[in-house]
Amino acid sequence: MAGRGYKNPVSRVSKPRKAKTAPALPGVMKVVAGPSATALAAAVAGILTVPVIPVTLEKNSGGFPDGEVYVRLGAEVRGDTVAVMQSTLGDRNLVELLLIQDAVREAGAAKVVTLVPYFAYARQDKVFEAGEALSVRAMARAIGGGTDRVLTVGVHNRDSLRHFPCPAEDVSGMPAVARYLVDRRLEVIVAPDDGAAHHAEEVARHLKIPWDALEKTRIDALTVRLTAKKVAVAGKRVGIVDEVISTGGTVAAAVKELRTQGATHVSVACLHGLFAGNALERLKGCDDLACSDTLPGPQTKFSVAPEIAAALKRHG
Ligand code: R5P
Repeated sequence: MAGRGYKNPVSRVSKPRKAKTAPALPGVMKVVAGPSATALAAAVAGILTVPVIPVTLEKNSGGFPDGEVYVRLGAEVRGDTVAVMQSTLGDRNLVELLLIQDAVREAGAAKVVTLVPYFAYARQDKVFEAGEALSVRAMARAIGGGTDRVLTVGVHNRDSLRHFPCPAEDVSGMPAVARYLVDRRLEVIVAPDDGAAHHAEEVARHLKIPWDALEKTRIDALTVRLTAKKVAVAGKRVGIVDEVISTGGTVAAAVKELRTQGATHVSVACLHGLFAGNALERLKGCDDLACSDTLPGPQTKFSVAPEIAAALKRHG
């Protein structure tokens, strides 16, 4: 039906024709990446020595007049296992992911594994106040409906994976954090709160050094005090690890506390660098600030591609 002021471009796109050659052997993997994961997908494909299928996202230069997303695959995937990669920070990225999944299915892929390097909305994993959406469940249902399996990386809460209507697994990015921190001669790893304690424990295990989690105590409505529970940090080189930095408030408070306790060096490494608002300004107090390539940006200093490649090998 017309009526939107322009021709429906999808109707002008021919359906992918059936492969004239023999279908690919089952288990052959191809990677299709959305724009948020282009570099990471290339790195993963390089490790696995599999091709990256190009995707067209604009039928006409400048896109649709109403801003809608358009997706067309640039090569055949019939009979293949396809790894679809896209982070969902920014709602447009989510729509692109859903359309890529649909295009891959429509083109006859034998199996679709969706890898979401940064799975947004995962921090609204509870109904905190009556009337709220359980955002992570809504996102899981949407993404899980178009794929055979989902892989997330450093998801906020692994319990949330139960909301996917298909098998779902989280890939730890902490080995990559440890690889980055190994040269920093750290003496202790610290989580800024209990929620990140398992990350600190994992990184510390790789680096073979002690770890601790700061304890948050609310002094009054405006003051939060963070204290180390087990390990003294005075005179030590400390690494703070977390899965995500958003406003930077949590990590900035942790850096301040560790300095007060006498830490001589504070490196910060997280997986997902959102750096909302003036986060970078707030984090000026640390000696080094690094995040992974799940969300590429100026602070991206290490890659989770090896961890993703290993997970795709297991599930491809
Ligand atoms: C909390 O559970 C997370 O692990 C992070 O510590 C938190 O979401 C970071 O947020 P922000 O940077 O805004 O303090």
